[in-house]
Amino acid sequence: SQDVSNGLRSPICCILGHVDSGKTKLLDCIRSTKVQEGEAGGITQQIGATFFPVQNIRKRTKELKADAKLNVPGLLVIDTPGHESFANLRSRGSGLCDIAILVVDIMHGLEPLTIESLSLLKMRGTEFIVALNKVDRLYGWKICPNAPILKAMKQQSKDVHIEFGNRLNQVIAQFKEQGLNTELYYKNKEMGETFSIVPTSAITGEGIPDLLLLLVQWAQKTMIEKLTYQNQVQGIILEVKVVEGYGTTIDVVLVNGVLREGDRIVVCGMKGPILTNIRAILTPHPMKELRVKGVFVHHKEIKAAQGIKIAAQGLKHAIAGTEMHVLGPDDDLEYVKEAAMEDMRYVMNRIGTSSVGVHVQASTLGSLEALLEFLKTPGVNVPVSNIGVGPVHERDVRKVSVMIERKKEYATVLAFDVVVKPKVQELAQKLGVKILRGDIIYHLVDQFKAITGCLNE
Ligand code: GTP
Ligand code: NA
Ligand code: MG
Repeated sequence: SQDVSNGLRSPICCILGHVDSGKTKLLDCIRSTKVQEGEAGGITQQIGATFFPVQNIRKRTKELKADAKLNVPGLLVIDTPGHESFANLRSRGSGLCDIAILVVDIMHGLEPLTIESLSLLKMRGTEFIVALNKVDRLYGWKICPNAPILKAMKQQSKDVHIEFGNRLNQVIAQFKEQGLNTELYYKNKEMGETFSIVPTSAITGEGIPDLLLLLVQWAQKTMIEKLTYQNQVQGIILEVKVVEGYGTTIDVVLVNGVLREGDRIVVCGMKGPILTNIRAILTPHPMKELRVKGVFVHHKEIKAAQGIKIAAQGLKHAIAGTEMHVLGPDDDLEYVKEAAMEDMRYVMNRIGTSSVGVHVQASTLGSLEALLEFLKTPGVNVPVSNIGVGPVHERDVRKVSVMIERKKEYATVLAFDVVVKPKVQELAQKLGVKILRGDIIYHLVDQFKAITGCLNE
C-alpha cells in the first residue's frame, strides 16, 4: 500500500553514467529481471521507471542490520541511456530526480559521459552516490552473491585488495580533477561535502544492499522538505502507447501530488493541447518496469512518486517527454492549455527546419530531440524539413513526396522506434518515398548515408 503516516513520498532516483557502465544491469540485479538482454543492441534508448516498495528494500538490506527506520514508501528509479546522442534524455531524467546514482565502471574509471552526467548533476545541485561497478571483474574476485560489500571484501585475496585499492584511488583522483571529493561510503565521515562511493557488481550483486540502504537513508535524512507531499500534481509523460483494451495510453512519472480517476488533465499534443478525463490509472506490479509488457493493477487514486500508465480518450497525439497538467476547480483552462504546449514550442524553436530535408519521426519528444541533435552534429549534418512524434501516417508520406522534385534523396522518412503500417509502407513505395526504420539512432543514420552515398561529405 502507498499510505504512510509521516506523509513522505518516495524519492525519485535517476541512474546516470557512461555507455555500458552497467546502469540497466544494476536495475536488473535489484529487480531480478532481464530488461537489459531485451534491449536493441543492449543500449537503453528511453527512460524507464521502476518502483521498489520499501518492504523489498528492507529485505535486500537485511544483512546490513540497518536499525535506522526506513520511512519512505519506496524508491522510484529511473534508468537513462548512456549513448552520447541521448543528452536530452539524461537531462530530463536528472531533472526529475531527487537523488542520483552515478555509475562508474571500475575497470575504466571516469569516461566522457560520466563527466557529462556529472556536470548535469552539478548544474542542478543534485545529490548523488557513485556506484563503482563491475568489481567482480577484478582479477581473482571471489563471488559472494548479493553480499554487503564489506562482507564480500573480507573474502578477497590480498591481490584483489591491492588491485581494488589502486583502481579506487585512481577514480578518487579523477573525481578530484573534476573538483569533487569522493570516498568509500563506509569511510565517509562528511556526507554532503564528500560524495560516497559504493563498490558494486550488477552481475553477482555484491554491494547492492549497501547502495539501496544508502540511497534511501540519505534521501530521507536530507530531503524531508522536498519529499513532503504537495497538493500540486507534477507529472512527466515518458511514453505514448496503444495498449489492447485501453486505446492510446500515456506512461507518466508522477513526481508529486495525488492523482485520481476522473481527474481532468491537459497534455501537450501534436495538434494542440489535449483536454481529457482520466479513465483509468494503472501500474505494473511492483518491481516490474513500466516499459515491459505485463498485467496492470488498477488504482482509484495514487500518490507520488510512481511510474503510472493513464488511460483516457483523445491521447492519440499526446507527445512523450512533456509535462502533464491537472486542471483544478479554480484553474483557468486557457492558461493551463498554454502551459501544456510550452515543451513542444521549446523543441520547435530549437531545431530550425529547412525547406529541403528529410522527415524525422520518433517515438517520443525526447528521442526526437536526440535524433535531431545527432543529425545536426558535424560529419552527420543531415537537414530536416519536418518532424513528428508517434506512428508514421499516410499524410506524412504525402507531405514527404513533395520533396522528390526538390531533392530526391531527401524524400525520406527517418523513423525511429515507431510503427509503420503496411498500407503506409505501400503508399510510400507508390509515391517514391523511402521510409528508413531503425531502433538505434546511429544505425538509422548510417542506413541513410549508405543510400544517399554520404551526400554531405
Ligand atoms: P547503456 O544503457 O547502453 O548506456 O548501458 P548501461 O550502462 O545500461 O550498461 P548495461 O547494463 O547495458 O551493461 C553493459 C554491459 O556490461 C553488459 O554486457 C553487462 O552484462 C555488463 N555489466 C554490467 N554490469 C556489470 C558488472 O557488474 N559486472 C560485469 N562483469 N559485467 C557487467
Ligand atoms: Na548497454
Ligand atoms: Mg542501459
